[in-house]
Amino acid sequence: TSIAVMASGRGTNLKVILDAVKAGDCPVDVSLVIADKGDAEALNIARIAGVEHVVHVNPKDYSGREQFDAECADLLDKHGCQWIVLAGYMRILSSAFVRRFRGRIINIHPSILPAFAGAKAVEDALLYGVKVSGCTVHLVDEVLDGGAILAQAIVPVFDDDTRDTLHARIQIEEHKIYPATLKRMVEEGFSIEGRRVIWAGKQ
Ligand code: GRF
Repeated sequence: TSIAVMASGRGTNLKVILDAVKAGDCPVDVSLVIADKGDAEALNIARIAGVEHVVHVNPKDYSGREQFDAECADLLDKHGCQWIVLAGYMRILSSAFVRRFRGRIINIHPSILPAFAGAKAVEDALLYGVKVSGCTVHLVDEVLDGGAILAQAIVPVFDDDTRDTLHARIQIEEHKIYPATLKRMVEEGFSIEGRRVIWAGKQ
């Protein structure tokens, strides 16, 4: 199964996915990595791991989100990517992009959705004063951080937490559930009933 990873930042989730693939723990082939930022560490991680196609698509070269997304979409199709894995990808996808790859885009978000959607999830959870938080792997639809939930993991929130300490604790869980969920998607498969993901059961 050929997948693409789209990232904007440090790329630690990309790294653990590539490590899992290499270790034989995740039966996918990361054939394409796209970053929208030229200095994204994710690009280096992909190159070092030997990903075949590593591309910086610069939003400045396009007249708007639709054109930018159309370029990314063409790349994804050209390389036959079955799944599109967002890993710290900080751009909101256009609805045309979401429609084109409906049910094939997944994201990881640093909160227990539906609480704290949006770009400041860790900070918002801290400010709200919740005592547990965590991360969510979910399908992407037109609603920001709103698609069906594939997996979640929780962590405690401590009184002396800062955004960075809480985020670091959440990322430890992200790094476990993202490769594990990808593996399960590919090996086991699922269907959707309403909002619920029904795993197919081991074949
Ligand atoms: C993660 O916390 C993820 O939940 C959020 O962005 C962050 C990406 O981290 N969507 P990294 O770039 O994979 O380290």
